Amino acid sequence: MSSLEGNKIAAAILVGGMITLSVGILTDFIYRPHHSAQAAHEGGEGGGAAPAAKPAPLEPVLGLIATADVAKGEKIAQKCESCHTVTADGKNKVGPGLYGVIGRVSGTHPDFAYSEPMKAHAKPWTFADLNHFLTRPKEFIPGTKMTFPGLPNVQDRADLLAWLDKQSANPAPLPTPEEIAAEQAALKTEEAPAEGAAPAEGAAPAEGAAAPAEGAAAPAEGAAPAEPAAPAEGGAAAPAGESAVALIAAADPAVGAKAAAKCKACHDLTNTAKNKVGPALWGVIGRNHASVEGFAYSDVMKGMAGHPWNFEELDKFLTNPKAYAPGTKMAFPGIKKPEERAALMRWLRDQSDSPVALPQ
Ligand code: HEC
Ligand code: HEC
Repeated sequence: MSSLEGNKIAAAILVGGMITLSVGILTDFIYRPHHSAQAAHEGGEGGGAAPAAKPAPLEPVLGLIATADVAKGEKIAQKCESCHTVTADGKNKVGPGLYGVIGRVSGTHPDFAYSEPMKAHAKPWTFADLNHFLTRPKEFIPGTKMTFPGLPNVQDRADLLAWLDKQSANPAPLPTPEEIAAEQAALKTEEAPAEGAAPAEGAAPAEGAAAPAEGAAAPAEGAAPAEPAAPAEGGAAAPAGESAVALIAAADPAVGAKAAAKCKACHDLTNTAKNKVGPALWGVIGRNHASVEGFAYSDVMKGMAGHPWNFEELDKFLTNPKAYAPGTKMAFPGIKKPEERAALMRWLRDQSDSPVALPQ
């Protein structure tokens, strides 16, 4: 076979893998709420690790993959390698070989004696499903033989998944903004709004702010219907009601510049003002909501147009984007630490041709 033919075949396989993977992600979003509810009843059965008093928080991971630390992921994978090989030879150990596992149908690696539930699952492994499985293995596949308690930290899971994806002849494509948003919506009930946080429906913008337009609370297209946010469960987040505004004037812009790395995956923060996944943010503080030309804002954001971003509102938005603007397209979980938001806003305020006055 000529190498050209070989390339064509490789490309066909790659495209096939991508399609399978996308379908898997979508299927998963559609079925997740049912699955989770069912798993919650069955959780803790099947032996293995004792049920933890508080399950690890199941936070969305897709938005973190693009910027994840692959080198760290390789280190984290050592936890898996006591039971799994992640090499192209595909050898099985206590667990099945994991080389190329993202996009592969669960329970199908040759010559491995899977549990019945793992075989029955029979769906391609997606980033989103692996996020769930690796957070709470026995909840995602009740009765699995994998006696691994899970990786409780979402950044660890992102780093690991980013590395794992590269251990493949066919790495899966990075999650799309739609997939990121859909995962956020699917896991909404899991995101623990800490005590003091306003319930989703009550999450009005700051006093005096323009009320969101009617219908603004409608979820973004493709997102699951909004469910009332559940009370804090994993409870890892700091009280989200705490304002960071009083901390801004004294905050260190250098610390804020680092925090802004989280925004750069989606936003251009330079004065070249390009739109990316999110609108350009140069000069955003003091600028009206939803005012960047050529950017397709969500309805909720458009409903706030004509009203400037001030520190109070930005603080609320950055604490919990979906509570401030239900249905926003910004698939970012929020920054829970007031100190971090303060430093970020202190720095962001300077990224402007005419910085607004700092809060007193
Ligand atoms: C204590 C041993 C052990 C550890 C540690 C472990 N696993 Fe597993 N893993 C297993 C076993 C056993 C199975 C088969 C589960 C079944 O059949 O129900 C499995 C199955 C899997 C599967 C499903 C594979 C397939 O072909 O469908 C994935 C994915 C997986 N593990 C990922 C991981 C990752 C990633 C880590 C590290 C964060 C990890 N595992 C740590 C034992 C382990
Ligand atoms: C995963 C992608 C993503 C990340 C990460 C992200 N954003 Fe966004 N952001 C968006 C999108 C998409 C919108 C448009 C929201 C809408 O229309 O509802 C947006 C809108 C905004 C707006 C409103 C701008 C306007 O013109 O009205 C601000 C302010 C903002 N983001 C700040 C931030 C900051 C600060 C960070 C980092 C802490 C951040 N974002 C991280 C995607 C992202």
